[in-house]
Amino acid sequence: MILLELSKVGEQELGLTGGKAGNLANMIASGFDVPPGFVVPVTEYDRFIKDTGLDVKISALLEKLDFEDPAAVERTCRQIRESIVGHPARDELAKEIGSSTSGKGLWAVRSSAIAEDLADASFAGQQDTYLNVRPDSVMEHVRRCWASYWNERAVTYRHDNQVPQLRTGIAVLVQRMVTADRSGIMFTRDPVDGKEEVIIEASFGLGEAIASGIVTPDRYVCGENGKVRQRQVNRKQKAVFLAENKMEPVELEEARQNVAALNDHEAEGIAALGKRLETHFGTPQDVEWAMEGGKVFLLQSRPITTLTKDRTLWTRAYGDEYWADVTSPLFFSLLGEYLTEYVNREGSRIMGYNDLTGKDLIMVHKAHIYFNCEVLEEVFTYNPKFSRTKELLNYFPVKDQERIGNADTKLMKRVVAEVRIAVLDRDGMITRTYKAYDRWAKSFLEEMAPYDAMDLTRLSDAQLHEEFRKMEQAFLKHYRLIRYGMVTHSIGMNLIIKRWLESWLDDRSGELYSKVISGLKGNKTIETNIALAKLAAKANADHYVQDKLRTLPPAHFLKEMKDESAMMDFEKAFNDFLKVYGQRSHTREIYFPRWRDDPTMVVNILKALMDAPDLDLEKMEQEKVQERLQAEKDILDRIGRLEYGGPKKLAFKIVLHYAQIYLMFRENQRFYLDHQLYRLRRLFMEYGRRFKERGWVDSQMDIFFLSKEEIFAAENGKQEDMKAKIEPRKKDFERWKDKLPPKFVRGNAEFDDTIVWQGDVLKITGTSASPGTFTGLVRVVDTIEQLGQVGDDEILVTSNTDPGWTAVFSKIGGLITETGGILSHGAVVSREYGIPAVTAVKGATKIFKTGQRITLDGNEGTIYVSESD
Ligand SMILES: Nc1ncnc2c1ncn2[C@@H]1O[C@H](COP(=O)(O)OP(=O)(O)OP(=O)(O)O)[C@@H](O)[C@H]1O
Ligand SMILES: [Mg+2]
Repeated sequence: MILLELSKVGEQELGLTGGKAGNLANMIASGFDVPPGFVVPVTEYDRFIKDTGLDVKISALLEKLDFEDPAAVERTCRQIRESIVGHPARDELAKEIGSSTSGKGLWAVRSSAIAEDLADASFAGQQDTYLNVRPDSVMEHVRRCWASYWNERAVTYRHDNQVPQLRTGIAVLVQRMVTADRSGIMFTRDPVDGKEEVIIEASFGLGEAIASGIVTPDRYVCGENGKVRQRQVNRKQKAVFLAENKMEPVELEEARQNVAALNDHEAEGIAALGKRLETHFGTPQDVEWAMEGGKVFLLQSRPITTLTKDRTLWTRAYGDEYWADVTSPLFFSLLGEYLTEYVNREGSRIMGYNDLTGKDLIMVHKAHIYFNCEVLEEVFTYNPKFSRTKELLNYFPVKDQERIGNADTKLMKRVVAEVRIAVLDRDGMITRTYKAYDRWAKSFLEEMAPYDAMDLTRLSDAQLHEEFRKMEQAFLKHYRLIRYGMVTHSIGMNLIIKRWLESWLDDRSGELYSKVISGLKGNKTIETNIALAKLAAKANADHYVQDKLRTLPPAHFLKEMKDESAMMDFEKAFNDFLKVYGQRSHTREIYFPRWRDDPTMVVNILKALMDAPDLDLEKMEQEKVQERLQAEKDILDRIGRLEYGGPKKLAFKIVLHYAQIYLMFRENQRFYLDHQLYRLRRLFMEYGRRFKERGWVDSQMDIFFLSKEEIFAAENGKQEDMKAKIEPRKKDFERWKDKLPPKFVRGNAEFDDTIVWQGDVLKITGTSASPGTFTGLVRVVDTIEQLGQVGDDEILVTSNTDPGWTAVFSKIGGLITETGGILSHGAVVSREYGIPAVTAVKGATKIFKTGQRITLDGNEGTIYVSESD
């Protein structure tokens, strides 16, 4: 006998069956209901590969394969798979399979991976499974399963992890199909936080409907007592049923679509089965099941791999406020250290928050910054309850928000902290921080003048390193001030104002609040935008320049500008602009050029602004200021008329003063951060040039995929493995450059809060960032180069709005961003221009399509999409 009957597989044969089949055999032996079947052991796969001479052929193909070339990998893998499917297996095997399956209905032919291969959890579902297979085509499908051992992901995975490609092989499980009227999956613990509850997902027909995502299954949660605690019945429009070699979903009749797939009693039965499996295997299980005429069959059980020992929860949401950009290893090693050491640790030591100094504050995951929820939660408890608003609690998963919102305030510690600041770090006092910052900003630019004039290529390695050290010393003060100014002073004061307006003057939409914090003088982002608008107006006023700007591609335009004497005047204005604002960019990430490094970005913005209606931004701004002053006066009058109006008015005036100062502080510190980043980039680009020249890296830009420590170590003679380290990091960066990874990570589990349907209307909730409502057409802008396409009164949808994006805000009708809260740049500038904005809408650039009509409610922080539109 070649085949191993599932019910007779013994302990010593487990190595031949693969994990999936081995587990099922073990379950049968312990009395669980599993559909009968047999296993084509891995030895048979090996034999096939050798007998057909495919081992030699495959080795030769892999030998010459360039793994860096995705198209080549795809081609080679396909070639291997086709050879496997194209060769017949030995007669004995075909005969045995034939006699084991003949005349007995339909079969499931399932890949069963060998344990040491693809041990990584992310590999689930990567090798093929065929359902509803007729007896006469089982043999062919076994070969297809064999072939799936050679799919691109598996091959690349083995290559990356240095697993010999021909070593392990694959087993195949052939099993009677369950004529399932209901199917689903189950987790015997919450896979995300490990909570003691069983989660079941179920729908009609075969499990294929869930696996392929064509239905949203019903969801049942059973508590520790085994009873259904929560049930969510979804509309299940389709299902897949048992039919010969057919897997097409069919439409379910209307009346059945909203019926629960399981009643509570059935769900509880399945949950109890899950608990038995958990006890049997000794760890929480991830289970696949199917029901046939009231009987539950188990199709698979494996450990929940996401439950790891490290239970730290990380959130990407907090980073949205400050550091939402895709992040390279070099940039993380720089800014990450400044935030951890000087903002968090040193700041906490001064304030006496000793429990905050030992833990990691941030990490990088999928090239984005995540903050440690534990640290954030601690920080929250040092601040009064009312400061924990909906927007801030949104950094945490929904189910934790209530607990964190209601946790007792460590008020005494907070008071002591203020005293400690006054004694140990006087510049941290609210009355001083902003003044100290202005002094620093001025001196930093002066100190940098010699560096700016320097030709870095002429420095020795030691001198270049010394420049870095000096620069770092010069800007540390920035972090030592923003640690107070950005968080306590800015968020704190603004929240108090917002709250007072809400409870004293019923400002629930945030309209009054928005008025008193816009039209503030000295906003560097607005200043930049006004300068851009002036430059655009200058171009418009000159027919020659206007025509060139309109017709030429940006790079071409810049060249003409340089060469044509007719454009001399404009060129001067353009260069003057770059001198003052050239350190800006569309992102913090220093991998990407600044305006001065790549002025085509400015040309793109000018192109967009040229067609804008003649807006006098300066005048608009002055009106905003008048509006604010008037609003302040009205508000103070109204407060004065309240009970205890006198003291309330006084308190409001003082707090508003600081709220405004520190809102500007927060906005403008970014201007000077950009000044630092511009210079850091220039310095490390020089390292990149040197490393490339010495053959240590393949391209100058590769320098961004090394940490600063690695760069300095290389300089001291440690250059080995550098290229090998760079490759995977670069891939990660490329992959996540324009995509937002999930909001939360714990161990190796990732998750997000979701979007809801209300009837035919999709309701998407974000953060209300600027009041007002607007209905209009969407314009999705993925990259800064596309900014020029934005039309008048469109709703701009982007992943995040760095100040560099805000130049077109004067012409748009509304704004949606994937990241950012009420204090992000996009929010601040939207309020300035009076356009409604909703931020922190995860996946916005994917959810919305250019040209689609949507309604934006900036008061509520929601967006509505009607299906009929
Ligand atoms: N004997 C069977 N009868 C009915 N449905 C089945 C049977 N075997 C499998 N299925 C359905 O097919 C789905 C997929 O099968 P299978 O577990 O082999 O592959 P997978 O889940 O895609 O990948 P993995 O190898 O990671 O488990 C199962 O979840 C189940 O719904
Ligand atoms: Mg499975």
